[in-house]
Amino acid sequence: MSKQFNSLSLPEAWRGPAVKPSLVDLKQFRDHPHRFLLELAREHGDIFWYGAGPIRFVFGARPEHVHHVLVEGQQHYSKRTFQYGFLKEVTGDGLLTSDGTLWRERRRIQQPAFRKKRLDLVSDSTRRATARMLDAWANRDQPELDVASEMFELSLDVVMDVLFGYTIGDEAADVVGATLGVLHHLIRRSRSIPGIPSWLTPRRHAEYAQSLAVLDGVIARILQRRRTSGGRAGDEPETLLDLLVEAEGEQRITPEGVRNEMMTMIIAGHETVASALTWAWHLLGTAPDDVAALRNEADAAKDSAAGLEILSSLTYARNVISEALRLYPPAWIVTRRSEGATTNTPSWLPRGTLVMLSPFVTQRLEAYWPDPDVFNPRRFEAPVANGTWFPFGAGQRLCIGKDFALVEAAIILSDVSRRFTLRPTSDPVREYSGVTLQPEGGLPMTIALR
Ligand code: HEM
Repeated sequence: MSKQFNSLSLPEAWRGPAVKPSLVDLKQFRDHPHRFLLELAREHGDIFWYGAGPIRFVFGARPEHVHHVLVEGQQHYSKRTFQYGFLKEVTGDGLLTSDGTLWRERRRIQQPAFRKKRLDLVSDSTRRATARMLDAWANRDQPELDVASEMFELSLDVVMDVLFGYTIGDEAADVVGATLGVLHHLIRRSRSIPGIPSWLTPRRHAEYAQSLAVLDGVIARILQRRRTSGGRAGDEPETLLDLLVEAEGEQRITPEGVRNEMMTMIIAGHETVASALTWAWHLLGTAPDDVAALRNEADAAKDSAAGLEILSSLTYARNVISEALRLYPPAWIVTRRSEGATTNTPSWLPRGTLVMLSPFVTQRLEAYWPDPDVFNPRRFEAPVANGTWFPFGAGQRLCIGKDFALVEAAIILSDVSRRFTLRPTSDPVREYSGVTLQPEGGLPMTIALR
């Protein structure tokens, strides 16, 4: 059911049909929002206004919408949305959830930890962590394992080591479980009746509180160790932790701010990478030619390559990860609230409008991607048009960990395929769009030494 939403006060690019959903639609929206939005975009066009009860938003799937909200008009769009409101319950005000002065100051403090030369640490750490995981695989009795859990623990290992100089070891499974527990709780709340406080469901609230306590516990231990060790020695490289603790000493950030930033990095820095890699293994599971190309490249690659250099020496691995990020972008939805244009700017979306963009949808529209549902890493051999591929966002809020993630993922794909073959099991794979896009219940696969 739709009629035109053509108010003349709207800029041309934002005029489109108004979609009024039925009850069946609402259920689909709750259960599989990423697929539902894709269907709506394929049916109603790449711009539409959606309204049902409290859920009202405009959805823009064209590159020009992406560019407008995230780049050209970015200062007029805030993160004051339900998505970031829920996330704030866990991360507090931090780099991912805040706007304006607080965001700018936090980015200034942390940016040096993501500079290009720091990527050498990412490549070293990823190689070591991957080798440990593969040695454990080689000693397994059972060939079947859950690739999703393996990727979670591996990416957690790397992020903890690189950003905090912390070896996660045996705690990894608990921290991964706690992260998933916390995020799952937020999603459940965001999809239940609005306004119900979480303490009204006491059992779930207790599980959530316990998961949060596990994450806060590990953060407290990292900080405690850093404070008693007295900081880095003169020639050791600066970790993100060093930068945060130094900024705290200079009173540029409060102790609570330090906790919030560490929580943000733990959550944003491993769930996402693990999701991308898990989907890549799923896609490769039925693509033997791509596995062969990946393996040839891995066999020929020099292990001495480090940092960003990796991305030019492992181009096939990079293309595989880019294509996995196209088909299954971990951050499948990006929301903003229009704060209204100032007098100096053209009239854009009315103040208070909730705007939704979705890499999952834009990256699967035929207009920009021929055979959009087909896995084909070779698409990325040519440059892609602006705004048609944005799994890391765009503009000043572009993911701070983009290069970190790409280097890490390319090494993992290459090092794993050099030693092991991963095959799908007969279990069906269902998609779960939580805070990130994951295979529901994990991804069982069988592994065999090459
Ligand atoms: C494949 C992996 C990753 C994906 C797909 C991803 C995706 C994204 C996206 C889409 C945004 C922008 C959100 C928005 O504009 O609303 C973002 C921001 C962010 N990401 Fe990532 N990310 C990944 C890896 C990482 C890693 C490895 C880290 C840290 C080590 C990280 C930390 C952050 C932070 C802190 C922000 C907020 C940046 C700011 O607003 O200044 N991400 N990420």
